[in-house]
Amino acid sequence: MAVIPTMGYLHEGHASLIQQARKNADIAVTTLFVNKLQFGANEDFSRYPRDFVRDCTIAEEAGSDALFAPENGEMYTETFSTVITVRGISDKFEGAFRRGHFDGVATIVAKLFGAVRPHEAYFGQKDYQQTLVIRRMTADLNLGVNIIVCPTLREADGLAMSSRNVYLAPEERGKASVLHRALQTASLLVQSGEIRRQEINFSMLEVLRTVGELQIDYACAAQADTLEEPEVFEETEPIVFLIAARLGAARLIDNEVWQAVK
Ligand code: PAJ
Repeated sequence: MAVIPTMGYLHEGHASLIQQARKNADIAVTTLFVNKLQFGANEDFSRYPRDFVRDCTIAEEAGSDALFAPENGEMYTETFSTVITVRGISDKFEGAFRRGHFDGVATIVAKLFGAVRPHEAYFGQKDYQQTLVIRRMTADLNLGVNIIVCPTLREADGLAMSSRNVYLAPEERGKASVLHRALQTASLLVQSGEIRRQEINFSMLEVLRTVGELQIDYACAAQADTLEEPEVFEETEPIVFLIAARLGAARLIDNEVWQAVK
């Protein structure tokens, strides 16, 4: 049995996870739960887009056998007191800009694993650091769930699909693909032999700065497995390029992993 945890407002990216789960497992359970615990006090919990009826249709069409859509009070009862912290990997990048975010993610994913008892769970590479946090937690707590990470689905211009893309005003939408262009630039640079971290980061910043309205939280290359940031990478180690930036009311994140051909 497979679980596909989501916060709803499903798009083709979510659907691709459900389809993949359906191919591999006998039963695919999609969860829909906007998890308050992973939102900061000034974040978008209350205005996070929701459309339960549409989500049901998309999940069913993608092959989901069951939906688990608990109420807030069911997941977080009045006496709820346990929080899971995955130390180290949660601290930088998204964790630094969104304090407590990964505690919320780790806790709800552990709860969903406990509620559904799946053999495997599907996550998107779109939230790269999240996949590392969940892998670590699952291994550390011996949860016995096989974690499967699926590729990021993109719009035609390269913008990674996201429920939060609805926050983009029409004039911002056209500019949002700059994140993907910056990631592609970094990939090409590394492919051409550049392994100095600052140079790779600079190449991304240069592209991102072509959109004046973009407020960059970070644009960083890191070791793909550990998120460590050496001055110079090993020639053969996988590198992840991670970007987070705000454009109008939307906060966009994206990443690309570069791996030397062996
Ligand atoms: P949510 O943002 O709804 O995403 C649910 C799953 O869909 C995540 O694994 C995410 O990485 C994946 N996903 C999102 N956009 C994608 C895309 N363009 N292509 C492929 N996969 C994509 O991530 C969460 O919810 C929450 O943190 C959750 C894990 C459910 C815990 O609350």
